[in-house]
Amino acid sequence: MKQFQTKQENFWAGEFGDDYINRNSGRDMVANNIALFSKIINATDGSIKSILELGANIGLNLLALKRLLPDVEISALEINDKAVIELKNNIGEDSKIYHQSILDFKTDYQRDFVLIKGVLIHINPDILGEVYKILYESSKKYICIMEYYNPTPVSIPYRGHDGFLFKRDFAGEMLDLYSSLKLIDYGFVYHRDNNFKQDDGTWFLLSKI
Ligand SMILES: C[S@@+](CC[C@H](N)C(=O)[O-])C[C@H]1O[C@@H](n2cnc3c(N)ncnc32)[C@H](O)[C@@H]1O
Repeated sequence: MKQFQTKQENFWAGEFGDDYINRNSGRDMVANNIALFSKIINATDGSIKSILELGANIGLNLLALKRLLPDVEISALEINDKAVIELKNNIGEDSKIYHQSILDFKTDYQRDFVLIKGVLIHINPDILGEVYKILYESSKKYICIMEYYNPTPVSIPYRGHDGFLFKRDFAGEMLDLYSSLKLIDYGFVYHRDNNFKQDDGTWFLLSKI
């Protein structure tokens, strides 16, 4: 297997990432994502023609976004080989798929809406600034971040592994770094939701002004 620059990338490219796919699939997840993204897309100005998701796994967010915005151009980036095979099946060969680490991504052109969900929490904190830059540079207008929030940076064990899960105020840090970003909306999703469950997470919609 290709070796990446951080242990967190190797973790997701390898067996842990393969097993994650089996634990996280199912039609209910697309329905739950449709409920989530209908709120987020509703907060935009109706101009979204292109979407890029960084760390898309098998495409369960993108499938939901395609239902909400059927004519949108879809692009996805993913590090794990097995996930990329399913991603291609799920979102279609006509979508642009980057099979690589976010940390190796060079923005080719900007998309209207760039999404990252459940991925910043797994990035080595020492190089988080590089990922913020990639998010900023790859977006023409909107950046949507949905991660585990904590007011101060913390590392917590992840399924028995240390150094693979981090919580912090990712969106707030991007707002501090880039003065041309403003907060459009935010919200919380709950694993006990009566209808549309998601991992507990906080989403933030940022826009370039
Ligand atoms: C917790 S999953 C979230 C998947 C998807 N975003 C979702 O919301 O269902 C994290 C995903 O990010 C991918 N990933 C982790 N680190 C990455 C990196 N450095 N570059 C690209 N993908 C990465 C993993 O392989 C996995 O598919």
